[in-house]
Amino acid sequence: MQTVSRSVRLSARRTRPSALLTRLNHTQNSAAPPPNPDSGRTTSFGFKTVPEESKETLVKNVFDSVASSYDLMNDATSFGVHRLWKDSFVSGLRPGRRGPAKCIDVAGGTGDIALRILDHARETYADRETTVEVVDINGEMLKEGFRRFKKTMYHNTPQVSFHEANAQALTKFEDNTYDLYTIAFGIRNCTSIPDVLKEAHRVLKPGGTFACLEFSKVTNPLLSTLYDQYSFSMIPLMGTILAGDRDSYQYLVESIRKFPTQEDFSQMIRDAGFATGAPHEGGAWTDQWGGIACIHKGVKL
Ligand SMILES: C[S@@+](CC[C@H](N)C(=O)[O-])C[C@H]1O[C@@H](n2cnc3c(N)ncnc32)[C@H](O)[C@@H]1O
Repeated sequence: MQTVSRSVRLSARRTRPSALLTRLNHTQNSAAPPPNPDSGRTTSFGFKTVPEESKETLVKNVFDSVASSYDLMNDATSFGVHRLWKDSFVSGLRPGRRGPAKCIDVAGGTGDIALRILDHARETYADRETTVEVVDINGEMLKEGFRRFKKTMYHNTPQVSFHEANAQALTKFEDNTYDLYTIAFGIRNCTSIPDVLKEAHRVLKPGGTFACLEFSKVTNPLLSTLYDQYSFSMIPLMGTILAGDRDSYQYLVESIRKFPTQEDFSQMIRDAGFATGAPHEGGAWTDQWGGIACIHKGVKL
């Protein structure tokens, strides 16, 4: 895989370029095919309807803007609960249980899931050979992740690497390669969910696991009302106060409401060729906190 890129611009003030260059790989030609401005197709960007070809740029702008405050804001807006969901997501996957696993964490951002996978394998199975390739479309998020991993024992080891690439077109990642594909709070930002699932299926080995943690639909009407009130009023306000960026947090809240229901998303996973549990809660998916978030799993046959 080719090492870095013009698009991952390095901040000379904040990062020693030589160090970053060794670990932050850019997958050239990895983005989806060039947009066709005449396609006429539209998609949602939060509650707005936008031309399909402009969504990636809009999403990229959001994560460029939130990258430096992303971890702080996650803690603030969820009161730290995202950590519990991520812990439960990774421990349920038991990475390392069947020996060292080759993992890819897509839309991996600042590396929250990758770090948990490596910690779980090491702490539970004394496994220092499980690897995670962190993939994200946004170089700024990856740079935050890289900085964070520098403080860990995994830095400068083959256990972790960072790659700038689009979940919808993992062109430089080979077929039938990974034991575990994870995507956490990422898939709703992608323009085409079926394309993401198709690529996940392609890069997993037969028998490999697809696992997704994503915000979902709250089933209880009272909880749903309280959650709506909190998220539409407090999260953009916190975005303004803590990160100086209301619009990005408004988009993040709106994008949650546009994501398919648990039933519909689990059907999309099966349509991509994965086997799942029966299509109900506790089968194909497991709700977290009444469906505020949800874990979906599938196995490549
Ligand atoms: C809400 S963050 C989640 C980060 C991390 N997985 C976590 O749980 O903390 C969403 C991430 O998805 C990435 N993303 C959005 N669209 C993407 C795409 N098409 N391909 C790869 N990554 C994408 C963003 O750049 C961002 O880092």
